[in-house]
Amino acid sequence: MPVMADFDPHSFRDALGQFATGVTIVTARAADGHPVGVTANSFNSVSMDPPLVLWSLARSSRSMKVFEQAESFAVHILASDQDALSNRFASRDIDKFAGIEHGEEGAPLLEDCTARFLCRTRNQYDGGDHVIFVGEVIDYDHADKPPLLFHGGDYADKKKRPPLAENSGTTQIEPAGDAVRDDTPVLFEVDGKVATITLNRPGSRNALADDVIASLVEGLERAEADPDISCVILTGRGTSFCSGGNIKDIRAMTAEQDMSPLEIEQWYREGIQRIPLAMDAMSVPIIAAVNGHAIGAGCDLACMCDIRICDENAIFAESFLRVGIIPGDGGAWLLPRIVGMARASQMLFTGEFVKSDRAVEYGLVSEIVANGQLLARANQIAESVAGFPPQAIRKSKRLLKDARDMTLKENLDQAAMLQGVLQQMDDHREAIAAILEKRDPDFTGR
Ligand SMILES: Cc1cc2nc3c(=O)[nH]c(=O)nc-3n(C[C@H](O)[C@H](O)[C@H](O)COP(=O)(O)O)c2cc1C
Repeated sequence: MPVMADFDPHSFRDALGQFATGVTIVTARAADGHPVGVTANSFNSVSMDPPLVLWSLARSSRSMKVFEQAESFAVHILASDQDALSNRFASRDIDKFAGIEHGEEGAPLLEDCTARFLCRTRNQYDGGDHVIFVGEVIDYDHADKPPLLFHGGDYADKKKRPPLAENSGTTQIEPAGDAVRDDTPVLFEVDGKVATITLNRPGSRNALADDVIASLVEGLERAEADPDISCVILTGRGTSFCSGGNIKDIRAMTAEQDMSPLEIEQWYREGIQRIPLAMDAMSVPIIAAVNGHAIGAGCDLACMCDIRICDENAIFAESFLRVGIIPGDGGAWLLPRIVGMARASQMLFTGEFVKSDRAVEYGLVSEIVANGQLLARANQIAESVAGFPPQAIRKSKRLLKDARDMTLKENLDQAAMLQGVLQQMDDHREAIAAILEKRDPDFTGR
């Protein structure tokens, strides 16, 4: 067995993940009345007499202050169908209680759970990068519902669920969150330092309609602006990554509305072209988790990301000629830089469908993942990226992306300047100290 100092954080996490836990949401109310709540699987019982329970909260949690000051908290053991609620309370910087009745006083109470424990805060202990809260249970109720379990980095029940798609061999991405029910065009979920952006129009195979474009750009800008985010995963809900531009919108624009060439030009500039520009401005690395189809602008969208992985059913096509147009979103610039001019030309001029095995051969994706495992693998990659110092991650991406348009001399100049900043940072010193002391680093972003 490895000794403590040799712990590899990822294998440690995998080892811990072998242990199935229940999923809870713990809530409390601030002195000014505003509710907070977080998804937590650290909940456990401590003592029957007196009745004590514990759970632990990451020091980085936005809700930490409220929990530290609250005299009470409520633990909700979620029912197996409440994974959407779990995802919602595992997200950051959203109104987690939007549309949820939760009373006006005391710890907010959520409905339809397997069990609820109302607790008086009794002790708080130092738990390393977490604070351990011990509560004395003063009231509880429970229902006859199976609990939501968490195992190996995913909801245990979800692993058994059959895909919802017509095509039973296709990965069904169901990131959920109540936003799904709210019909939000693009979902934004945060877990630790990783943001997952999910196109949420499965009915149109995640076509890039105007509201999807606006919401996607907003999500990208939000991730970029948050210093706590170090990697983004981009995926599509349902059985497709993205079917490209909305063909009905395009037909309406040209055939029905009779838009002039100038108006169409403007529509591109103010519409879909905002995506490659927003992507290009990003310093946070983006992983495309391509489930099913990535067609036309959907193929280009994947090409805008830094890392691409796909499931076995993925199909790519640079299919613009099929509808008599050209890539209006940067595909002609992006694709040859990824697969080379000859293959890009073949894809563009034939509109051929490139299945996952050929996509990996082309270098269009770096990995094919077994159906059903795509998001788990994307998260694994994202976490290994996000384990590095935040500023070094962002500057690495800038150096790599900017290199496309630079001479070697210019790139070396840029590298020297960026290195001058990074080597003065605490995180650089911490990284070296951690390696020499054979321990996990603790990066602060400074
Ligand atoms: C299944 C699951 C279990 C989690 N368990 C915990 C936990 O025990 N403690 C914790 O601090 N965060 C846990 N998290 C992460 C938090 O829910 C997440 O970081 C959340 O964004 C914190 O919210 P806040 O920053 O708004 O306070 C868990 C997330 C998931 C999906």
